[in-house]
Amino acid sequence: MSNYNLLFFCALFLFTNCDHAEEIFPLKSNGTEVHYDQSLFPFYHGVASGDPLADAVILWTRITPPNNMPIEVNWEVSQSNQFNEITLSGSVTTDSTSDFTVKVDAKGLSPNTKYFYRFTAMDEQSVIGETKTINNTNEGDLKLGVVSCSNYEWGYFSAYKHLSEKELDAVLHLGDYFYEYAPGTYGDTTIGRFNIPPREILSLEDYRTRYALYRTDKDLQAAHQKHPFIAIWDDHEITNNAYISGAQNHQEDEGSYDDRKNIAAQAYYEWLPIRENANKEIYRSFSFGELADLIMLDERLAGRTKQADSVDQVDESYSMLGAKQLTWFKDKLSRGSTTWKIIGNQVIFSPLDISKLRPDSPANLDAWDGYAVERDDIVDHLVENEIDDVVFLTGDTHTSWAFDIPKSLDSYNASGESAAVEFGTTSITSANWNEGRPDEEVLGAEQLVLGSNDHLKFINARDHGYLVLTVSNSTVKADWYYVDDIKTKNSPEKLMKSISVKQGANKLDL
Ligand SMILES: [Fe+2]
Repeated sequence: MSNYNLLFFCALFLFTNCDHAEEIFPLKSNGTEVHYDQSLFPFYHGVASGDPLADAVILWTRITPPNNMPIEVNWEVSQSNQFNEITLSGSVTTDSTSDFTVKVDAKGLSPNTKYFYRFTAMDEQSVIGETKTINNTNEGDLKLGVVSCSNYEWGYFSAYKHLSEKELDAVLHLGDYFYEYAPGTYGDTTIGRFNIPPREILSLEDYRTRYALYRTDKDLQAAHQKHPFIAIWDDHEITNNAYISGAQNHQEDEGSYDDRKNIAAQAYYEWLPIRENANKEIYRSFSFGELADLIMLDERLAGRTKQADSVDQVDESYSMLGAKQLTWFKDKLSRGSTTWKIIGNQVIFSPLDISKLRPDSPANLDAWDGYAVERDDIVDHLVENEIDDVVFLTGDTHTSWAFDIPKSLDSYNASGESAAVEFGTTSITSANWNEGRPDEEVLGAEQLVLGSNDHLKFINARDHGYLVLTVSNSTVKADWYYVDDIKTKNSPEKLMKSISVKQGANKLDL
């Protein structure tokens, strides 16, 4: 009998002999156990790190315990993967109130330093994770992986695996970490991967189980194990086209939207390695010395009003960020003294005319085009305050994009004046335009959109993968990597496109 089991039986005896005892019972199956790699017991969901600072990082794991009793977990951090010298260590207790997830804010680390970490619980050791503190030394480049939109049913996560093999400072996850739908209702299930639980997720247990399913994926585990993530939700972590008081995919017979929103946020905080602040606001910023500020925006739950029904309806009452976040964002932009301001943005910021493609819906009203007055106010803020070198990074559309963000759309054709730039990453696997359509048709559609938007310089609506952003004093470069085939395991990847912006230019270098 292991020490753990001995303790467990002692605890069982004590608790069952106490009048005020907590009842001990085995945990129910949630159906995801079939995907467990038994060699990882009891850390079946791997390890992760996130929200790095110059002197701290969040470390994450989850225990799958035999019963509902609290579990003590030890953690260690070292600069050596042999753990010859322990830099930091500690012990925490986890229990069912956090779904047996573990989050440690490991503080007192050195900047720009790679660390290894591991957990011990139930006499077993987790895999060893790698992480890195923020480089605030003003020397060297910053390299970020940028991802969004991973649909488990639709394809294999080879892109996450490739990302795990790159040298990066961190991975930005711009949302749609998972999808809330029932099996087979979004995309297809031809590769034989099925959502668990087998229904649209509504309860806390449902949301937790969907994370548990995704985190059994070996490719996603590898990405988390290798790099710190800086993550923000988009809509599907809650439900489709979410806003502060409702969502397209929330119906009255599904209960209170406020309850669902809170449940979704709770599960997200439990399962993602995010540093929580006291008021539970997820928008936040990171400082990479004099080189860059990274500003992560919340475009769903902080203050977004309901989407408009038509472009004509959009006025100043339509808010993407809400007044408080908007003030914070503009303040961060004007006060920042860094060379670059990198914006973790979920939905397309630039104006985008899709009227030739979709005459019935000439703009995406779930994107910033549906909140154009607020968007123009932000652009005016950049121009009036001479705030240069702003780079928006965008997810959501399952398509790759590169835009100049015009100072004024009306005068852009003549002047070419641009206030900032925007790079959009494609999806890890979620469907884009050519699923179900021939490539030639999609190429034609891409040309149609390019032809309608002079400030749009690159579009690819056919491929899946991710973006790597390399930030130096003189340049920010976006590299789009695409996998060959999302329906094949371990699909190879290729670097397919690179576009830069030079410091001081505020427009793409073409
Ligand atoms: Fe998505």
